[in-house]
Amino acid sequence: MTVVGAGNVGTTVAQEVARRDYADVVLVDIVENLPQGKALDLNQAAPVLGYEPAITGANDYAETAGSDLVVITSGRPRAPGMSRDDLVTTNESIVGSVTRAAMERSPDAILVIVTNPLDAMCHVAKHASGLPRERCFGMAGILDTARFSTSIAWETGASAKDVTAMVLGGHGDQMVPVVSATSVGGVPLSSLVPADRIAAMVERTRKGGGEVVNLLGTSAWYAPGAAVAQMVDAILLNQKRVLPCTALLEGEYGVNGLYMGVPVKLGAGGIEEIVQLELTDEERTAVQASADAVREVVGVLTLA
Ligand code: NAI
Repeated sequence: MTVVGAGNVGTTVAQEVARRDYADVVLVDIVENLPQGKALDLNQAAPVLGYEPAITGANDYAETAGSDLVVITSGRPRAPGMSRDDLVTTNESIVGSVTRAAMERSPDAILVIVTNPLDAMCHVAKHASGLPRERCFGMAGILDTARFSTSIAWETGASAKDVTAMVLGGHGDQMVPVVSATSVGGVPLSSLVPADRIAAMVERTRKGGGEVVNLLGTSAWYAPGAAVAQMVDAILLNQKRVLPCTALLEGEYGVNGLYMGVPVKLGAGGIEEIVQLELTDEERTAVQASADAVREVVGVLTLA
């Protein structure tokens, strides 16, 4: 597989996947020596951690040829005070050019987008690659759901492993944590936690990316990298996992022609099914509001 962008998120993806020991990883970045240095360091962790040193660093795409999967993390991250949408123009040109370069070498690959603003960058990659929606989609929902689940585990004192949650919509402050689909050990969240505490957790989830940016001065990478690796597993190991991913909707959830986060079944074919959840009226309205916010950012794209 190929990971474009050897920054914080890309390197974490390479590390997580390398540790699983089933894929060769090529890490590409425009900064000279950076991907080579990161790859060397990751390979030298292999004997200690017990995986094969199969990571290559490169500044061009020759080594990436024939990849089954391409993950795009190249582009600027947020700084404090910036919204994800502030990145749109700079990152559009980066995502467009790297998509074309990577797909030229790996025309059969599945494309997973990570660069922000995520929903808009999925449109850019779809336009640049010409891939069907099954093979071009993005990572955000697993991360946003993990943020919600972490709060729920802390609030209830239960293991994070027993929290089942779902966050839909765009990867912005209008994302929709779906309380009706959230439970702890099978018990609905709404019967475990008072409404005002649930509202606080929903709010913290929506602002979860910004919370990390304010602490670190840049955006998160450990949880995002782990989330991408979960998608990589589902695809390359044909696991048929149902995971929230950013998919091009064609009428599902009442949204047409727009990338947004929804539960999908992920396997060797990429998105094998878009799963339709029963939402409450309030949640349906929130999904539409989130779609409006995504549409506004997509409207800024040039799609040149
Ligand atoms: P970073 O700044 O650490 O890494 C980005 C890397 O991309 C840099 O090494 C840079 O040299 C490289 N790059 C820039 N232009 C390139 C090009 N044309 N070709 C190849 N490489 C190029 O940033 P970080 O923290 O890794 O974040 C990457 C992106 O992922 C940002 O846009 C960030 O907002 C986004 N992100 C998305 C998340 C999600 O849930 N979808 C979560 C976290 C970050």
